[in-house]
Amino acid sequence: MDLDLTTEQELIRDTARQFARRELAPAAAERDAQDIFPTRELRALADIGLLGVNVPEEHGGMEAGVVAYSLVITELARACASTTVAVAVTNMVAELICQFGTEEQKVRYVRGITDGEMVSGSFALSEPQSGSDAASLRTRAERVEGGWVLGGTKQWITSGDVSGVTVVWAKTDPAAGAKGISCFLVEKGADGFGVGRHEDKMGLRGSSTVSLTFEDCFVPEKALLGDLGDGFKLAMVALDGGRIGVASQALGIGLAALSEGLGYASERKQFGKPLTAFQGLQWMLADTATELDAARLLTLRAALLKERKRPFTLEASMAKVYASEAAWRACDRMLQVHGGYGYVKEYPIERLLRDARVTRIYEGTSEVQRIVIARELLRRQDRMV
Ligand code: CAA
Repeated sequence: MDLDLTTEQELIRDTARQFARRELAPAAAERDAQDIFPTRELRALADIGLLGVNVPEEHGGMEAGVVAYSLVITELARACASTTVAVAVTNMVAELICQFGTEEQKVRYVRGITDGEMVSGSFALSEPQSGSDAASLRTRAERVEGGWVLGGTKQWITSGDVSGVTVVWAKTDPAAGAKGISCFLVEKGADGFGVGRHEDKMGLRGSSTVSLTFEDCFVPEKALLGDLGDGFKLAMVALDGGRIGVASQALGIGLAALSEGLGYASERKQFGKPLTAFQGLQWMLADTATELDAARLLTLRAALLKERKRPFTLEASMAKVYASEAAWRACDRMLQVHGGYGYVKEYPIERLLRDARVTRIYEGTSEVQRIVIARELLRRQDRMV
């Protein structure tokens, strides 16, 4: 067992760290306060290759693996979680197209996503009535001459208004349940493809979250991603990987909170001593550091399994549920360390707390992760205990 990073992984992590400190951190509060989408920052990330860390070189990526990708997401999230979610969803879409797309689809979309020309990709699975129960989606795709006509509404779509390409899940055989779902690549500006409400969110305010509408939206035959009826499996495969991204993001937010808490507790004096001299606060710092390290190990293990092409569904869900809940506790405790100053916008900790909250919800709630973990545990119990 080797816990050391390779030289390449360290280099990529340090590049992301420097970029995050220089380009993302200074305006993170402003992006949050004024709902500014990080278009310029995404292009700058594309310029240094960080939009395609786990994408094959032949399609414009860095091909540096899943561990490197996880390290990048964590470093970016330490500075700006809003920018990070756009990067993570873009990566998820690029990987999905690389894994299941035709050569033409890879050439047309993956390079455009990773070099920043298409700004980002988006992932349109959820609907107003279909969240955790993803197979209950209602968007329809009717076969017509030369292609398909999409009809329906999607909700909670990250970067859905700015993306050059959106992966859309629709029922192609409504009677067949999960096996009647297929997946389509829809380009920005397609006839009948509209952007609806922009969500007024609690956190990640620099990211864009919209609903999307499809009204008689024609897509050609070649827009089908993967095989007909395989859409649900594609969604599950993509989300397994996406959950490593969310775990990495949550870890980054938690580490940022710990750093803020340590800084504040070292400077602030009460009863004639710095806060760090009080054991009650030391324990909060100790618990937080320990939990974040556990989150880091779970996340990197899931990333390594995926990189080695071994099963990682269970490990990704464990990493996601643990890291997102540890990040939440980290933000809450470190806000407490700040006292009243933690409750106002003068310090970043309240933004970190708001940003952390959604990591327990999106790409599968904590409850869904526990369903996945329990199912896997029951399926392979002899190998787990
Ligand atoms: N990999 C491959 N195949 C999988 C799989 C996986 N991880 N998980 C399930 N499948 C397959 C099953 O094997 C089954 O196929 P067979 O019938 O051939 O055996 C099929 O998919 C159906 O599986 P289930 O019966 O387990 O499906 P279910 O309806 O019980 O749902 C669930 C399971 C885990 C709850 C799933 O619905 C789920 O993950 N829900 C959460 C959805 C989610 O994460 N949404 C996030 C939206 S995207 C987002 O947030 C992005 C953003 O913008 C930030």
